[in-house]
Amino acid sequence: MHSALTYQPVARCSVTKARAATLQLPHGPVPLPIFMPVATQASLKGLTPHQLDETSCRLCLNNTYHLGLKPGQATLDAIGGAHKLQSWPHNILTDSGGFQMVSLLELATVTEQGVRFLSPHDRSPMLLTPEHSISLQNSIGSDIIMQLDDVIATTSPDHARIKEAMHRSIRWLDRCIDAHKNSATQNLFCIIQGGLDLELRKECCEEMVKRDTPGIAIGGLSGGEAKEEYCKVVTTCTDLLPDHKPRYVMGVGYPEDLVVSVALGADMFDCVWPTRTARFGNAITSTGVLNLRHASYSADFSAVDPDCKCTICRPVSAGGLGLTRAYIHHVAAKETAGAHLLSIHNVHYLLDLMRRIREAIIADTYPQFLRGYFSTLYAGDK
Ligand code: GUN
Ligand code: ZN
Repeated sequence: MHSALTYQPVARCSVTKARAATLQLPHGPVPLPIFMPVATQASLKGLTPHQLDETSCRLCLNNTYHLGLKPGQATLDAIGGAHKLQSWPHNILTDSGGFQMVSLLELATVTEQGVRFLSPHDRSPMLLTPEHSISLQNSIGSDIIMQLDDVIATTSPDHARIKEAMHRSIRWLDRCIDAHKNSATQNLFCIIQGGLDLELRKECCEEMVKRDTPGIAIGGLSGGEAKEEYCKVVTTCTDLLPDHKPRYVMGVGYPEDLVVSVALGADMFDCVWPTRTARFGNAITSTGVLNLRHASYSADFSAVDPDCKCTICRPVSAGGLGLTRAYIHHVAAKETAGAHLLSIHNVHYLLDLMRRIREAIIADTYPQFLRGYFSTLYAGDK
C-alpha cells in the first residue's frame, strides 16, 4: 500500500538486534529509536506545545478517542486537523481509540462491528468501528494513524478470546485499509496481537506483513505480564518483521524496558507514565525514580538529576532554571507547578535516553551502553 514515510537505516548493532535509523515523516525527520510522549487532549498534561517543542520532541501521540469526543470531527475539519488545533509544527501519531475505551470505560464491549461504549458526556450509546476510527484520524490529519484493534490483557486466561481478538484485528486491519482516504499523506500502521502465545503472534505477523502497511506495531503488551514473556513476544515478532519498516511497541516507557526493547529490535515507544508519575512527585533519574515529595529532599539543593541538561536541571549560568530537588519538594506538595516542572524533566530524560541509545548503536557500543546503564541504575542497591 501507499506510504508517506521513508525509513533510512543508519546503523545496526553487531551483537544485539538494535537499529538506528532516520524516519522521514510528513512533518519532518525523526531519529529512531524514539520515545513519543502522550499528549492526550492535544497537549501534554502540564506542558504547552512550546514547552514540548523545547524538550526536542518531534513526534508526539494524540488519542483519536479523546479528540473525536472533544473538539469533535466537525471542529477538527473546520480548523484543518490537530496540527493546526495545537499549533504543533512537528509530527503526530494517533492511537485508534479502542484501547483507550476498553481501558478507561468499564462499559465498553467489543463485537465484530466495533467497540460499543457509553459517551462519558451524556451516556448515550456510541459505536467506534474501524471505518469511523480511520475517518476521525483522517480529520485529525496525524502523520501516523493506527488501525482499530481488539485488545485483550496479556494476563487474561481466556485463550479462545485472545485468538478471536487476534483474528478480528486482522479483519479490522482490512477494513481500515479500505476506509483510509489519505494514504499519500498519512501512514497507517497495523497492530500485531495474540497475547503471550508465540504461535498466535507468528500467525498474526505473517498475515499483517502481507498487508504491507508503512509501519508495524506490536500491541497487547505492557499489561503487567512477566518481563521474560514480554521479551519473548517482542523478539519473536521482530524476527518476522521486514528490516525496512519502523516497529513500534505500544504502551512501553520505563527506561529499563526501553533499553532492553531496543536490543530486541524495536524502534518506537509511547507511554503516559513519565507525565503521570510526575504528578505524583516522581523524577526519573539515571540512578532510579526519586519521589521528591519525600521529606529527605526538603534540604537537598542538588539538581533533580545532576547529569540532566533539561531546562529545569540546567544551571542558570547555562541558560536553564537551575531548580533544585528542595524547590520541587517545596512546590510539589500542593501546587501543579511541581508536576509541570517534573513533566518537562521526565520527558526530556526519556528523549535524551533515546538519543544516547542511538549514539551508542551508531558507535557500535550498545552492549557496553546496556551494561553501563544497568550498573548506574542499580549502583545504589545492595
Ligand atoms: N496502547 C498500548 N497497547 C495498545 C494496543 O495493544 N493497541 C492499541 N490500539 N493501543 C495500545
Ligand atoms: Zn532535568
